[in-house]
Amino acid sequence: MLSTVNKAMITISNLRKTFGNQEILRDINLVVPKGQTHVILGRSGSGKSVLFKCVVGLMQPDEGSIQIDGIEVVGLQQPHLDALRRRIGYVFQNAALYDSMTVRENLAFHLTRHLHLSADECEEMIREKLQFVGMEVAIDKYPSQLSGGMQKRVGLARALVLLPEIMLYDEPTTGLDPITSAEIDELIARLKRETGVTAISITHSVESAFRTADQIAVLHAGEIVATGTFAELLKNRHPFVENYFAHLSINELV
Ligand SMILES: Nc1ncnc2c1ncn2[C@@H]1O[C@H](COP(=O)(O)OP(=O)(O)OP(=O)(O)O)[C@@H](O)[C@H]1O
Ligand SMILES: [Mg+2]
Repeated sequence: MLSTVNKAMITISNLRKTFGNQEILRDINLVVPKGQTHVILGRSGSGKSVLFKCVVGLMQPDEGSIQIDGIEVVGLQQPHLDALRRRIGYVFQNAALYDSMTVRENLAFHLTRHLHLSADECEEMIREKLQFVGMEVAIDKYPSQLSGGMQKRVGLARALVLLPEIMLYDEPTTGLDPITSAEIDELIARLKRETGVTAISITHSVESAFRTADQIAVLHAGEIVATGTFAELLKNRHPFVENYFAHLSINELV
């Protein structure tokens, strides 16, 4: 039995997802205890984003179960799904900001849809989250006026406005320079320390996993083929895991 401290917040069991005759996720099993950050490492096209879409009910799996804080997501009816989604901050792979809205409006859209706040309260919450990601200066800008890294930060701030208990990061550092990547990883780690948020981050970056993960799960051929701490995975002898970690200069990390 898990103790209260290690209570599972996200439990994915025997998850299968196909598109036509293409089997993307074959049998995914993952348990994320409350307050921990788990990183799913996998190559491009391995089904990482599909997995997240299943977790938030944007896609229906063919088989299996996804429980969030004891609530079964698979087959959950719309009003209950909406209530659950409010507890989840989803940082999309491409930031997915609304192009026709300023940064302020992007964040306000989320806030005012769900909460009844005065204009002052709304502004305060928006500024607080933008400050957290170092993007307050961009509050009046449009997404097209921002770099990719800036858009990722704003996407992170937008996911935070509703004070989520769970964060899902889809490739939070992909395409960014090493310094910006490290800064975003530090924000993810800080958020965990300061708010106790439970998180899954999916990435193909071993460096990012090293910096943010309590546990790393390696996704390959539709299954989690290995799970463990960074140190444990370095010793893992599964051929895919060995090969994945062989591309890494460990001296750069330790
Ligand atoms: N709506 C869809 N219809 C059909 N196939 C899809 C759909 N969405 C994803 N796929 C397929 O599922 C596979 C996994 O896609 P997914 O976007 O999850 O990969 P990923 O691991 O997130 O890759 P990347 O690291 O490049 O983001 C791909 O082969 C993709 O073509
Ligand atoms: Mg993806």
